[in-house]
Amino acid sequence: MANRIVVLGAGLIGLYVGGLLHAAGAPVSLIGRSRMRALAEGPLVFSGIDGRRVELPAGALDYSEDPVALADAGLVLVTVKSADTGDAGDLIGSIAPQRPAVLSLQNGIGNTDVLQTRLPDYDVAPGMVAFNVAVPEPGRLHRATDGGLMSARMPALLPWLPAFEAAGLPLVMRNDFAPVQWGKLMLNLNNAVNALSGVPLAAELAQRPYRRVFALLVAEALKTLRASGIVPARVTRVPPQALPMLLRVPDAVYRRIAGSAFAMDAEARSSMWEDLNAGRRTEVDYLNGAVVRLADRAGRTAPYNAAIVELIHAAESGTLPAYTADELYAHLASSGPERPR
Ligand SMILES: NC(=O)c1ccc[n+]([C@@H]2O[C@H](COP(=O)([O-])OP(=O)(O)OC[C@H]3O[C@@H](n4cnc5c(N)ncnc54)[C@H](OP(=O)(O)O)[C@@H]3O)[C@@H](O)[C@H]2O)c1
Repeated sequence: MANRIVVLGAGLIGLYVGGLLHAAGAPVSLIGRSRMRALAEGPLVFSGIDGRRVELPAGALDYSEDPVALADAGLVLVTVKSADTGDAGDLIGSIAPQRPAVLSLQNGIGNTDVLQTRLPDYDVAPGMVAFNVAVPEPGRLHRATDGGLMSARMPALLPWLPAFEAAGLPLVMRNDFAPVQWGKLMLNLNNAVNALSGVPLAAELAQRPYRRVFALLVAEALKTLRASGIVPARVTRVPPQALPMLLRVPDAVYRRIAGSAFAMDAEARSSMWEDLNAGRRTEVDYLNGAVVRLADRAGRTAPYNAAIVELIHAAESGTLPAYTADELYAHLASSGPERPR
């Protein structure tokens, strides 16, 4: 069996996970694009909200923009943004005929289907990174929230578990991964709200008016899931079903209840904000858009999530937005049954 782990998409998650696997002694190659080259080739510091710190000297990583390392892969970690998943699948299919195990460490619903369609004979598993990675200063990859790595149970991943364990990133395999993915998606419905707010996550979530917008999206998603017979799993200390209620409590109560459940750095922002900020396509179609599609399949509508998708698409082709919470709420409320207050 080929014993190399190849990270396809050396961005924030790819570099963080691949870098720590390398630091723990696993044979890792990273395939990236020029935007991340300086970061990937420079000295790297991996820091964490838990105080953990790992350092790598410049040039320590086997980083390349040539995907040839895929030919030696026993495991491919797909860490590209959702819009690039199809191309990543094609690349694996053309360069890695040895059929490495493929693990998607992406957010959203649908990436594994895209990969499996392009790679019908490969073992492909959906996975999840439950923490947030930011670059607070050049050369430092910082794990800005708590949470770990999870995947669907897939025998082809078993030989790789010790490497993740050694890297301090144990991969927890679960039988009920679809509910887990939907549980995580409930949290990621806030990515768009955060991107549209223009403020860091902690500042956004500290304000009840923004949380009410988030709550509208989650409540609508929960109804859609119920109508589709899906029970989202709990991926944080707060069960998804309790989220809308928790989000609507007054700020002081929220601080007390959620402070520890959603520990995060003051400067952390959603990666959707990062994408808008950099003029890139966002993953909104795989997040809020997944709720809209699920509703459609169940013969229903999801007007709030659909309205958010539209706002993000407008922002992708316009200027960086900074909606006040009241503006956002009024916009959403006018799109669905909720009466603007
Ligand atoms: N960042 C977080 O905190 C976080 C947390 C949890 C989950 N996630 C999820 O993890 C996934 C990755 O997110 P990210 O923040 O790490 O994204 P990112 O920083 O944009 O990294 C992805 C990198 O992959 C590169 N890429 C795309 N196609 C490629 C190809 N064919 N060959 C080589 N490189 C390729 C991209 O190139 P370009 O630079 O040219 O685009 C980009 O540099 C997303 O699904 C995201 O939602 C992120």
